[in-house]
Amino acid sequence: MSTAAGRDIRLYGLSKFYGPFKALDDIDLTIAPGEFLTLLGPSGSGKSTLLMALAGFVEPSHGDIFVGGRSITALAPEKRNFGVVFQGYALFPHMSVAENVAYPLKVRGLDRPLIEAKVAEALALVQLDALAKRLPKQLSGGQQQRVALARALVFSPEVLLLDEPMGALDKKLRHDLQIELRQLHRKLGRTFVNVTHDQEEAMAMSDRIAIMRAGRIVQLGAPRDLYDLPETRFVADFLGKSNFIAGRVGETTGGTVLVETADGPIRHAARGRPVKTGDEALLALRPQALRLGPGGDNALPARVETAIFLGTHAELTVRTAGGTPFAINTPIERADALPAEGADVTLSWDRTATVAVAED
Ligand SMILES: Nc1ncnc2c1ncn2[C@@H]1O[C@H](COP(=O)(O)OP(=O)(O)OP(=O)(O)O)[C@@H](O)[C@H]1O
Ligand SMILES: [Mg+2]
Repeated sequence: MSTAAGRDIRLYGLSKFYGPFKALDDIDLTIAPGEFLTLLGPSGSGKSTLLMALAGFVEPSHGDIFVGGRSITALAPEKRNFGVVFQGYALFPHMSVAENVAYPLKVRGLDRPLIEAKVAEALALVQLDALAKRLPKQLSGGQQQRVALARALVFSPEVLLLDEPMGALDKKLRHDLQIELRQLHRKLGRTFVNVTHDQEEAMAMSDRIAIMRAGRIVQLGAPRDLYDLPETRFVADFLGKSNFIAGRVGETTGGTVLVETADGPIRHAARGRPVKTGDEALLALRPQALRLGPGGDNALPARVETAIFLGTHAELTVRTAGGTPFAINTPIERADALPAEGADVTLSWDRTATVAVAED
């Protein structure tokens, strides 16, 4: 299967109404040729609707979709040359693996020798050449998944659209297939748009992630940028976990902002949303940025509410005197170093660990 540079995909003001309900709300998005873009968001946020609008199975109520500068908004799905793997990846149960993969080529009226060659190539790509004659029910979940991928790739689509392709698989298999899918993406150089609500999958695979909520893209960026600089409470908590500290902004000296909180002043290195004296601020703080014991730019007394030893690390929840709860994720060498529930501890973190975010 040849690699291709491809064309960009642009969405302008894309909306989808179901009666009065807005499943997609004025989406603007440009997808670069060859990009691996993931749509990530909670259930019902509009991920599948957006993907199906791209595929042509959902007709937008407003807005346009352009590929390489040409509108495809009115183009039928089969004319878009997009490969699609649906949520649940249903294969035709009565057809063999090879017949399943051949199906899109038969529909397109290719002749037999060409179909056979392309099917063999697609099956080799997903490492299923040896199982071509089996029926879907004779395959594992991961193998069925690969057949669905081969079927979506066999006609050399310009774009591959994947809706929770690994949703039905167990964790280990998901992980293996994520790596394979990434390699496949590199090898083919085509545009992949993947839908998931698994944040680890999104982080591991994507060039960029679009975080969706209630039919909108609330933040778009490289996984690392989204993780390091979430703009809102929702994103800070959806992509990884976050603690939140609310307070009022006081003085700023040498890049350090003092934020007055229920537990007294907190030092914050002015990361994230700009804040000025007198503002209400919301600071997000990752559980792994917190330490037990003194040190760091901020230290607060707290009481342990729960403490769980997980082998490589421990997860604790504590509450400060001011009543703020914190989740802590900290490396720990031995289970007996874990503080007891009810113990008084000191919680510390650096001023560079907090990011000011907008309340949703
Ligand atoms: N045909 C339809 N008629 C009415 N409402 C619909 C229809 N299809 C989707 N919706 C609604 O639109 C919203 C977005 O649905 P969508 O399937 O895009 O969500 P999703 O982000 O893919 O969720 P999930 O993670 O559960 O798959 C949901 O509230 C859903 O109930
Ligand atoms: Mg969905």
